Amino acid sequence: MFDLTSDTATQPTDEMFDLMKTASRGDDVFSQDDSVHELEAYMADLLGHEAALFGTSGTMTNQLGLRCWLLHPPQSVLCDSRAHVHVHECGGIAYHSQAAVYPVVPSNGSYLTKEDVEANISTDTLCGAPTKVISLENTLNGTIMPIEEIARISQLARSRGIKMHLDGARLFEASQATGVSMKEYGQHFDSVSVCLSKGAGAPIGSILISTKAVIQHARHLRKLMGGGWRQAGMLAKTAQHCIETIVPTMPRTHALTRRLADGLVDIGFKLLVPCHTNMIFIDFKPLTVATLAVPLWEQHKIKISNTPGASICRIVLHYQITAEAVDNFLVLATEIAAKNKIAKLNSDDSAICSRSSSVASSFTDLSAAYPSVQ
Ligand SMILES: Cc1ncc(COP(=O)(O)O)c(C=O)c1O
Repeated sequence: MFDLTSDTATQPTDEMFDLMKTASRGDDVFSQDDSVHELEAYMADLLGHEAALFGTSGTMTNQLGLRCWLLHPPQSVLCDSRAHVHVHECGGIAYHSQAAVYPVVPSNGSYLTKEDVEANISTDTLCGAPTKVISLENTLNGTIMPIEEIARISQLARSRGIKMHLDGARLFEASQATGVSMKEYGQHFDSVSVCLSKGAGAPIGSILISTKAVIQHARHLRKLMGGGWRQAGMLAKTAQHCIETIVPTMPRTHALTRRLADGLVDIGFKLLVPCHTNMIFIDFKPLTVATLAVPLWEQHKIKISNTPGASICRIVLHYQITAEAVDNFLVLATEIAAKNKIAKLNSDDSAICSRSSSVASSFTDLSAAYPSVQ
């Protein structure tokens, strides 16, 4: 079965289990594990920062990073209205940091610009919650935020004394697709969270990168949240191996994703957001719900997200998805299209992205594609 529901669906391999046996076995709560130290030093260097902290999940490393900046309520975080830190982290910013979120809808339909940010920064120290952190996400829904725009926002933030946090759960995808180094992305931020268990393929783990002082504080807060883990070396060792061996294969995954996206467009489906990396969003409407019936896809060895009643579907590729899966997907999509006379969709002007566009023509609410998938 090819699982295209998420890039968190990668399966640990036998090679990874073998590698775990070679890891050090110290206690990471006391910062005594060599394999963890090695991974943290490696990632800090990769992003051009002083220090890093290995944690259980992207949610944890995002929330720790933000919490370290939000020390004096009332304060707020400005982010894209679709940002994971705002929508999918259980209201963690309110819970952990007692801070407000000012979500902003990108005016270009794709990514926040300096102008979007500037218009929404709060400086109201009487009735508002002043903006303390600007939190960006790259990639967001698989789309890449241009480095030039990140630089403009970062310059603005620094001139206003505002901290920059990056939810780089999929920063490796952006870096591999654009050729912009992790270090170049890293220089525009005060803290960065990078997930290791998404496209990078590690079974567990995410990492927060920042200054020594912030990481020391984050380590303390991690313990407070119950996230201090003991013999984490085997996970660190595996994660570093994945960064070194799986991350370089991302361009192949992106090419397969592009082939699938182009194939779907050729059949008559519409892309809802530009396909830049490993994600595709399509709307099966006005097809029948039966289109999404699990057994039909399973016959073709494909697992896709299936939200009852929702027609928007997120398709995610990763290194364990092969050309066979893409071929199977396109065969089935062609059959479905033929049965449903899908060519008529081509005349539907509600399409957001054509095959060649890299920026959406208007903002699309994709929340229906995220029932509980990550
Ligand atoms: C953009 C983004 N940030 C953060 C996370 C959180 O990661 P985790 O599931 O490890 O908490 C996710 C998870 O899918 C994500 O997509």
